[in-house]
Amino acid sequence: GVLPAEVPPAEIGVIGGSGFYSFLDNVVEVRIDTPYGAPSDSLFFGEIGGRRVAFLPRHGRDHTIPPHRINYRANLWALRAAGVTQVLAPCAVGGLRAELGPGTLVVPDQLVDRTSARVQTFFDEPPAPVVHTSFADPYCPSGRAVAIASARAAEWEPVDGGTLVVIEGPRFSTRAESRWYSAQGWSIVGMTGHPEAVLARELGLCFTAMALVTDLDAGVEAGDGVTHAEVLEVFAKNVGRLRTLLFDVVAGMPVERVCACGAEDVPRPA
Ligand code: ADE
Repeated sequence: GVLPAEVPPAEIGVIGGSGFYSFLDNVVEVRIDTPYGAPSDSLFFGEIGGRRVAFLPRHGRDHTIPPHRINYRANLWALRAAGVTQVLAPCAVGGLRAELGPGTLVVPDQLVDRTSARVQTFFDEPPAPVVHTSFADPYCPSGRAVAIASARAAEWEPVDGGTLVVIEGPRFSTRAESRWYSAQGWSIVGMTGHPEAVLARELGLCFTAMALVTDLDAGVEAGDGVTHAEVLEVFAKNVGRLRTLLFDVVAGMPVERVCACGAEDVPRPA
């Protein structure tokens, strides 16, 4: 295996987003290399409520990797190699509707891929088998249910469902793009939710996005548009409660998976 003998495998992976660089106390740091290169950072192993967790800072611990340069394949591969079967993916997003303002927590149930330059499969190079992954429902129903129930219990009323549109970035959207996304009925916009979600699905991992709205996107707000400083500031204000919530979600994740995310009758990357 890829783990040192003294580090037991993890069950649950947490991929921390912008503003979220540390998660657990008393961690063991393990650097994992993959056939796809290096992940964004080491994995940090720890325990919450008796569950083994591996944390990975998506942009690197010093936030040095922009969304379009993240090695998503290495990140997901490393999590699976660490034993992870369920992935929780907090991320910062912009709201595409006036009622989805800063501080809103959205647990999306759909995704629109507007990325353009990211590899989104492990089944890439001939003679790899040709695989077309089913992706009608990109998120784990069990993970979503636990995220929503935990947020409610913590009195942080979540938005249950909605569509996350993932843009290539690293720039924010123009007003016209943003208005177009809103007019489609999409709820939130981010830069990292894809191809994370489909790579998790290819590996048979449950994947649950938990989106924290940090700003209203350019087409919805009246001001000068989104700034990176604004995103980081709002994330920083909410990171404490997001961390607490994630602890509850980890502790509440099903021990036996009852969803179809890890179905055994589809090809998996070797
Ligand atoms: N991440 C946080 N806010 C965002 C926005 N408005 N657009 C894209 N990604 C974001």
